[in-house]
Amino acid sequence: MRKVLIGVTALLSLASSAPAATLVGYAQLPADTFAAGPASGAYSGAGLRGQPRFSSQPVQGFSGVQFGKDGSYLFLSDNGFGSKADSADYLLRLYTLNLSARTAPSGEGKVGVGAFVQLRDPDRKVPWLIVNEASSERLLTGADFDVEGFAVAPDGTLWVGDEFGPYLLHFSADGRLLDAPIATPNLAGLPTLRGQAPIVIGHRGSSGTRPEHTLEAYRVAIEAGADFVEPDLVVTKDGVLIARHEPVIAVVDAAGKVLEATADVATRPEFASRLTTKKVDGVEVRGYFAEDFTLAELKTLKAVERLPALRGRAYDGQFQIPTLAEVIALVRDVEAKTGRKIGIYPETKHPTYFQQMGVNTSQLLIDTLKKEGFTDPARVFIQSFETANLKALKTDIMPKAGLNLPLVQLVSSPDEAPYDWAAGGDTRKYDVLATDAGLKEIATYASGVGAYKRWIITDKGQTTDFVTRAHAAGLLVHPWTFRNEATYLLPGYAGDPEAEMRQALRAGVDGFFTDFPATGARVVGQYTAPEVRSPQNPAYALGTSSAAANVGGSGGFEGVTLSPDGKTLYALLEKTVTGDLPGQLRLHAYDLAGKGWSLAGRYALDDAANAIGDLTPVNAGQYLVLERDNASGAAAKAKRVYLVSLNEKNADGTLKKTLVADLMNVKDPQGLAPSTQGGVFKFPYVTIENVLVLDANTLLVANDNNYPGTGGRGADVKDATEFLWLRLDTPLTLAPGVGRK
Ligand code: G3P
Ligand code: CA
Repeated sequence: MRKVLIGVTALLSLASSAPAATLVGYAQLPADTFAAGPASGAYSGAGLRGQPRFSSQPVQGFSGVQFGKDGSYLFLSDNGFGSKADSADYLLRLYTLNLSARTAPSGEGKVGVGAFVQLRDPDRKVPWLIVNEASSERLLTGADFDVEGFAVAPDGTLWVGDEFGPYLLHFSADGRLLDAPIATPNLAGLPTLRGQAPIVIGHRGSSGTRPEHTLEAYRVAIEAGADFVEPDLVVTKDGVLIARHEPVIAVVDAAGKVLEATADVATRPEFASRLTTKKVDGVEVRGYFAEDFTLAELKTLKAVERLPALRGRAYDGQFQIPTLAEVIALVRDVEAKTGRKIGIYPETKHPTYFQQMGVNTSQLLIDTLKKEGFTDPARVFIQSFETANLKALKTDIMPKAGLNLPLVQLVSSPDEAPYDWAAGGDTRKYDVLATDAGLKEIATYASGVGAYKRWIITDKGQTTDFVTRAHAAGLLVHPWTFRNEATYLLPGYAGDPEAEMRQALRAGVDGFFTDFPATGARVVGQYTAPEVRSPQNPAYALGTSSAAANVGGSGGFEGVTLSPDGKTLYALLEKTVTGDLPGQLRLHAYDLAGKGWSLAGRYALDDAANAIGDLTPVNAGQYLVLERDNASGAAAKAKRVYLVSLNEKNADGTLKKTLVADLMNVKDPQGLAPSTQGGVFKFPYVTIENVLVLDANTLLVANDNNYPGTGGRGADVKDATEFLWLRLDTPLTLAPGVGRK
């Protein structure tokens, strides 16, 4: 109900604030308009060859417009008959159109089709097989590229945006492909501390799928794509660091019932006498403790699943408890076999507890890392929930060992406290470490903060400013713990653990601990894949892409234009890249001099189901965007022209936009268009893909008729291309050179 109210409010405000646009000119090109060329339309929807439906080439639909010579216009043909499979005999062209508008009821609108530029690849710049591979001219077809927008550079060459790659295509003025298709880099723009890729930390290994802290759990984590594996460390009776989350390896109640266990020790009669009660960090615990067993004794035990009700017992009894040295050996083995350099993220558990027994686990950790020769600072993070041990590592233990490994201060929930503080009578809690001053203090000895994830995303699902503040202090942020099971997910994620990970990544975390590193690696991979690729990208047909497609079909460069100074190409994707917020579209800038890409901003659709149709400049900082819904005819609602500012942003970082014209509510007092009723003209075509600024007050707008599509003016009426001259009540601020010269 709330959504409906918001929708009504938004519509009311749109209606009341919508600036007026008036139809001052109109012309139409009939659907069945053909140009010279080979017969076409022979490919059915299933891609089977049949009889050509047309004896030559259809001129429409149009997906982009620029000024042509001598008052004419250049219109880019769309990719053909609707899909890659349909369009192998549809030739990609730029048509010269001579438009003459009907400007008075007595007048007549005319559209003359003149010469065309045929896009082609005679110099074999396309590195994969094209439809006309064997011919000398290699004319490009709608099965090779889906061309959706273009710009004419100051040197006369043509820059065309494609959707199959998506690619940028560079042609000479007469349509010859000049360079290999230019792939789209994946400019995810994650706000990590230094713009680096986030890391996936296999929390206790792949503990969601194998018993935690076993070599098997670590091996599976690495195989799944973890960058680091996390051993929590406790100490054996004979002073060896082993991977267990707690000193207690089985918790047993007074009645002898095992409440929680990570090893089968309670089933082993020979160890029955080791059952005892101790205080761990001030809390009484009854069970079996690692420090009461020698390593040899512990090696006779088998790991069991800690959360059997959730994760089952399929792997119980199969794996041993590993030492830290064995974890290092596993990582080394992976490196030798695969070349992958996996890191280790050890946590010394309960340092005060062990210190009270006379064991300095920080010293033991450094000694072990040194002995095993695993001291690359790029492959180790040492973490702790306590503070004094980290400070001792930084100022004493590591310098004496000649090491300077990065440290991570764990920051738990605000109602808890570092135990070294509590043991020393300090009543402060973790919340003081989460203040700006606390983070600054952490930065004096640590490189990062391992934050309880509710510091970053509240239990209401709101992203906080924690990451921004920690980054301001120079700290990496690695939150914990991300788990796939629904019981650990906020309701807003609707059972989708990837949604939680994406929210954290968009908040800027530098990595995260997860029990399911396969999921974590998949999600991080969405942001770190080198390119944006649609399912039609040739890499998939060739089998050369290991990364999944990350933008939907027909989601490529729908809007391509040039800055007024002719130096920067802007290319706007039509669909949201996987991992970005739904409804946000990446606007790319491509510097023509340096040939470098950057992210110019993100365009926010009114509705995530909408799409954009075209992009054209107004001045250096403002561009027009056509936005549309996916409906036609009576169902069409949203067909709009927006003015987008590259230099002004909304609170969520998206580009500010203001409505310039509502194409479903255009004044036509003269009744210039045949469809106008009651002085109101509507433009209800599903795709509206052409907009051009003629002067400060006038736009040219045209639809893409998706030949031989229907639905805009009636279910059985073939869509024509309609050309609109729209007068804006509020003039645009044009840069010199924008508009008809
Ligand atoms: O060390 C980060 C994370 O592992 C903290 O939680 O209790 O699983 O060690 P815990
Ligand atoms: Ca841990």
